[in-house]
Amino acid sequence: MDRINLNDKYILVTGAAGFIGSALIMRMIKSDECFHIIGVDSLNDYYDVRIKEFRLKKIEDAIKDSSSDWKFVKGNIADAGLVKELFSQYPFACVVNLAAQAGVRYSIVNPDAYIESNIIGFYNLLEACRHSYDDGKTGVEHLVYASSSSIYGSSASIPYKVEEPAEHPVSLYAATKKSNELMAHAYSKLYTIPSTGLRFFTVYGPAGRPDMAYFGFTDKLKKNENIKIFNYGKCRRDFTYVDDVAEGVFRVMHGAPEKRTGEDGLPVPPYSIYNIGNSSPVGLMDFIEMLGDELKDQGILAKDFDIKAHEELVPMQPGDVPVTYADTSALERDFGFRPDTPLKKGLHEFAVWYKEFYCDEKED
Ligand SMILES: NC(=O)c1ccc[n+]([C@@H]2O[C@H](COP(=O)([O-])OP(=O)(O)OC[C@H]3O[C@@H](n4cnc5c(N)ncnc54)[C@H](O)[C@@H]3O)[C@@H](O)[C@H]2O)c1
Repeated sequence: MDRINLNDKYILVTGAAGFIGSALIMRMIKSDECFHIIGVDSLNDYYDVRIKEFRLKKIEDAIKDSSSDWKFVKGNIADAGLVKELFSQYPFACVVNLAAQAGVRYSIVNPDAYIESNIIGFYNLLEACRHSYDDGKTGVEHLVYASSSSIYGSSASIPYKVEEPAEHPVSLYAATKKSNELMAHAYSKLYTIPSTGLRFFTVYGPAGRPDMAYFGFTDKLKKNENIKIFNYGKCRRDFTYVDDVAEGVFRVMHGAPEKRTGEDGLPVPPYSIYNIGNSSPVGLMDFIEMLGDELKDQGILAKDFDIKAHEELVPMQPGDVPVTYADTSALERDFGFRPDTPLKKGLHEFAVWYKEFYCDEKED
């Protein structure tokens, strides 16, 4: 692996107002290094835009006491002109693509959004990285991009290992993420772009995504509504705390796959894939019990709230998988890191944030 010195360099983070993108920027800001961060986000309304604004405000506040600086650009990475313009303005050393249309279930109702952001958007970034080396320029030293545990689909044995084939996605979302890995491989081979794909596993935490189950459960229970529990509660998920994911991405940014020549005299693609997951899957019913306890502790639910009475056990949803479980040995070997925030702590942080954001605000 080639260590990269990113100090005093320009870093492009797409999806900067997103859940993981904003957590990564907060991690960068807290570092001793000085980064010139350009954050891009379309601020689309797939979910409550106020949460994206909240995250941006947090960055604005934190940057004041940081050695780094940042500029936010509202824009769509599917707009080739915008991406070209950014690359002509800034000599990016590292590009972190976290902008995407996320969500498995939404890909069934709105497939267009996935092709636009995840395929065309990613293609525009690859092309821009390719041309960043034009005229002998140093260009992009590392392209890091989000993939997903969902690419393991229905075929993989658990725990999911990056070395094993994952060729049977069961949703368009997963297919676009797998496509990103394939596209990155081709560009790494053709243009020697060092690229690393990160397969994230069910990321949760404060200021998270309202479309994710733990957030939706909280919204519904707070309104005294029933929650639908898919696959009759027999799902297990490798819930991964957002700050652990940000730490993983941060470390990976600093280590690019090595550029080397193969026995055939041709360049070997500098290409890597890692899992970033907690490596300890939790059953959905246990998860809901733990979440309920934290919501009660924060007063979001009454102490005597009967969660069991609000549970509706229903069949599996199309596109979902019953188990996700990350093998993180590659990440540990190369970056000396594995996510380890206990679920109880992570859910506590989520509940504290949720209370502040939704409950306290309305009481003012
Ligand atoms: N959160 C998870 O559990 C999880 C799991 C696996 C993979 N991922 C992947 O990680 C990445 C970040 O996910 P997240 O949870 O932060 O999602 P998010 O939706 O919170 O963040 C994505 C951000 O990208 C922006 N965006 C979407 N399309 C865009 C476009 N075309 N141009 C510019 N901005 C655009 C959105 O406005 C959003 O703020 C995504 O690629 C997602 O697929 C997330």
